[in-house]
Amino acid sequence: MDTGGLHAETSDAVLSVRQLRTEFATRHGQVAAVSDVSFDVRPGETVALVGESGSGKTVTALSIMHLLESTGSIAGGEVIFEGRDIAHLEEREMRSLRGEKIAMIFQDPSTCLDPLFTVEHQLAEMLHLHRDITDAEARTRALELLRHVGMPDAEARLDTYQHKLSGGQRQRVMIAMALALSPSLLIADEPTTALDVTVQAQILDLLRTLADETGAAILFVTHDLGVVAEMADRVVVMYAGQVIEQGRVREVLKTPQHPYTAALLNSMPGNAAMTGQRLEAIDGSVPSLFNMPHACRFAPRCKHAFDRCTVEPPPVHELGSDRNARCWLSDPSESWRRQPAEVST
Ligand SMILES: Nc1ncnc2c1ncn2[C@@H]1O[C@H](COP(=O)(O)OP(=O)(O)OP(=O)(O)O)[C@@H](O)[C@H]1O
Ligand SMILES: [Mg+2]
Repeated sequence: MDTGGLHAETSDAVLSVRQLRTEFATRHGQVAAVSDVSFDVRPGETVALVGESGSGKTVTALSIMHLLESTGSIAGGEVIFEGRDIAHLEEREMRSLRGEKIAMIFQDPSTCLDPLFTVEHQLAEMLHLHRDITDAEARTRALELLRHVGMPDAEARLDTYQHKLSGGQRQRVMIAMALALSPSLLIADEPTTALDVTVQAQILDLLRTLADETGAAILFVTHDLGVVAEMADRVVVMYAGQVIEQGRVREVLKTPQHPYTAALLNSMPGNAAMTGQRLEAIDGSVPSLFNMPHACRFAPRCKHAFDRCTVEPPPVHELGSDRNARCWLSDPSESWRRQPAEVST
């Protein structure tokens, strides 16, 4: 089987996304927001999904969770969770997986907290839905969870509504809800971008500690490479709906193999300062879904592009275990130097 550029050793993975393609129906026709996305998340591991705005990070996360809006659907590929392809699972079955096995936390807690109910009510409802417990047991467990996520004055907070909580406290409630049922995979979509820097660091610390304790794997969506370096074991870099490079964080950040990853690193203030390079913005913008370059999607912005990049889509080159890049220049055999370019249609 073509694994979409990943090794076939997926049996130990909690999640294996294979050649995922997600499309939306729009006024101008069907568009693919995500195409050919493949990566693994193994037990206990934190994998970061990074890329500029519009690269398809959220659509990938929502596809896995079956939380796409009604115009969106998975049009191809597989989402293998704990050995089973859930890409087309019925909503009834998906509902029991969500929360219980895969939980998601969002950038904006109000997408999952209800302003009309107290914190206790919402945590208890989550527990009742999946566990056969009494109201008293649910309250005790809700309190335990709030304490566990470091909520100050946890008992009083049980009877509070979300508008009385700070941004960081709301995020803690959402993390408590996400971890209530000890899921094996937690998907966190930019969970701290709306918070100030100090609270951001606290929440990231909390997530890391809780994941270590529970053994949950984390798929962490961010566009901050500083957070990637802090949090993740491996990184999956997305550009214009595709994965363009992935590997262990240390290797990818130290020796990026795709010019886009290198450009992202050079555009990071801390990183440029560290390496003595000039801070560079990436020229141009992410291509529109309606007007995707048909060969390499990054070619129009790439300083290293040559004739082949604009006529033939680069394959995903395997660069050792757990490492690959979708770029002609990352071909270890440099076979492109010997063969004429094939014009793709
Ligand atoms: N409901 C929709 N209908 C049509 N296109 C959509 C829809 N939702 C997302 N898209 C498109 O899919 C692409 C990927 O969007 P996505 O939200 O996944 O990006 P992202 O990487 O999460 O960006 P950000 O960093 O801004 O959150 C974008 O071009 C976006 O416009
Ligand atoms: Mg997003």
